Amino acid sequence: MADATNTGAGESDSMIMSSENANDAPKPKKSIKMFQFFVMCLALIIGLSLMSFGASRFVNFNVEKSIVRFTMGNAPIIYEPARDCGKRITAWSHLGSPVRLTKQQLSMLTHVILYPMYIQENGTLTFEDEEQKKNFAKYVSMAKKSNVKALMSTDGHYETKNIAAVTANAEKRKVLVDSIILLVNEYQLDGVDVYWKYPKTKEDFLNLIALCKDLKEVFDQYSRRIILSHLIPPASITANTGYVNLQKKVIEIVDFVNVDVNGNYGYWIKDREHLVGPAAPLYSGHGVGWNVNVNTIMQKFSCLMNSSEKLNMMVNIDSFRWDNVIRPVNDTETLWMTADPENGKYTGRWIWWRDLNSKGYDVKNASWNQESRTPYIWNSEKREYLSFENEISLQEKMKYASEKNIGGVTFWELRSDDDSNTLLEVVKSKFGCVGADRTIVKYECEEV
Ligand SMILES: *[C@@H]1O[C@H](CO)[C@@H](O)[C@H](O)[C@H]1NC(C)=O
Ligand SMILES: *[C@@H]1O[C@H](CO)[C@@H](O)[C@H](O)[C@H]1NC(C)=O
Ligand SMILES: *[C@@H]1O[C@H](CO)[C@@H](O)[C@H](O)[C@H]1NC(C)=O
Ligand SMILES: *[C@@H]1O[C@H](CO)[C@@H](O)[C@H](O)[C@H]1NC(C)=O
Repeated sequence: MADATNTGAGESDSMIMSSENANDAPKPKKSIKMFQFFVMCLALIIGLSLMSFGASRFVNFNVEKSIVRFTMGNAPIIYEPARDCGKRITAWSHLGSPVRLTKQQLSMLTHVILYPMYIQENGTLTFEDEEQKKNFAKYVSMAKKSNVKALMSTDGHYETKNIAAVTANAEKRKVLVDSIILLVNEYQLDGVDVYWKYPKTKEDFLNLIALCKDLKEVFDQYSRRIILSHLIPPASITANTGYVNLQKKVIEIVDFVNVDVNGNYGYWIKDREHLVGPAAPLYSGHGVGWNVNVNTIMQKFSCLMNSSEKLNMMVNIDSFRWDNVIRPVNDTETLWMTADPENGKYTGRWIWWRDLNSKGYDVKNASWNQESRTPYIWNSEKREYLSFENEISLQEKMKYASEKNIGGVTFWELRSDDDSNTLLEVVKSKFGCVGADRTIVKYECEEV
């Protein structure tokens, strides 16, 4: 098998992580300057508000409530929480999960996407069963009470086996659109997420565009706003499929896209089966071919659109465990390892965040990959490598998304979080608006 392809050449040893030492080294001078700048802006905003409204009690209350300070990487940042500044915190919730959607979760969101719905061969949409249908009604009504937008997904099923054939046939596509509209009306939904993973051919993309256009046309006739969103797998753009401009058309039609920045390493990915690594490295990677990571994907989409406002950066809190990982020659080089196939097959498994402790993973004592900004647990005896997200890696991702003016975050998914919603809480409290102009593209786009 291919040998280990280490990128860090020794400079990035794993370290045992704790909340004290896992932060970035601070850059004091710059942050103090930024801090002063924001304080000045804040003072200006408060001053102007007081002058224009004269209602000091009311204004003060609002300002205090919506501007929050928090410390990350030791640099103080003043930002507005997403819910108060027009950014999105979207989460997926499975209708059949024994882990129920709660009011507490909804209080941290702006949008919830309920799934799955199944597209039948004839184009109609159906629930999996009566119980999921009941849950759907209940969750939509809970979301409305919490002032959270309730969307349904047109499929959300991993196989999405009928969508290509249905959208390719104008009659069936109309049945699908009518079926969606029926549900939007019956449940007074706020929107629909078109889930198609993955469009494979040019025709698929053209049919996806046709579906989005058909839906948008009907939605535009409503007096209330009906949201259209779409889930994009990163491969559609990063793998240079040649359909980038078609993907761009889809984004132009819809209101926002959930950009799946995960799944950059996995044994099911062609030519990368053996590469062991985090599903969503914020930076870095194996360095084979090209480094696909959260940063490069968000940069590509932002530059493609010349805007980051419609982009929701997806975080997947499910952990992944690789089996049969090749022990490194040097015990300390555990960052970018590779695996062996067993009987010709690579294996591993997904584990929900909420189950890690009970399955024997001591998540509080994980190692830290500073290059990718993700934790991991390497079991040399069993040759198992667990890659996951925790509070620290999500803080890093939320800081990144806030500072890069990304329009939203999509949380995949609620049932995987623990009963205290530890990880959703990080998203809620660490993602928001930084600085004055949120429409600026914070990437260098020349070289993309
Ligand atoms: C193992 O790797 C570490 C860090 O990359 C290095 O400091 C050490 O010298 C290496 N040990 C051996 C035996 O090569
Ligand atoms: C479409 O198929 C589903 C199930 O396969 C069936 O229940 C439904 O009646 C069909 N609808 C039409 C309009 O044929
Ligand atoms: C990108 O958008 C900005 C305004 O947001 C505009 O000034 C700039 O010309 C645009 N760039 C391109 C390449 O269209
Ligand atoms: C923490 O993990 C390291 C190796 O990853 C191990 O050597 C150490 O014993 C663990 N500490 C505790 C308290 O479990």
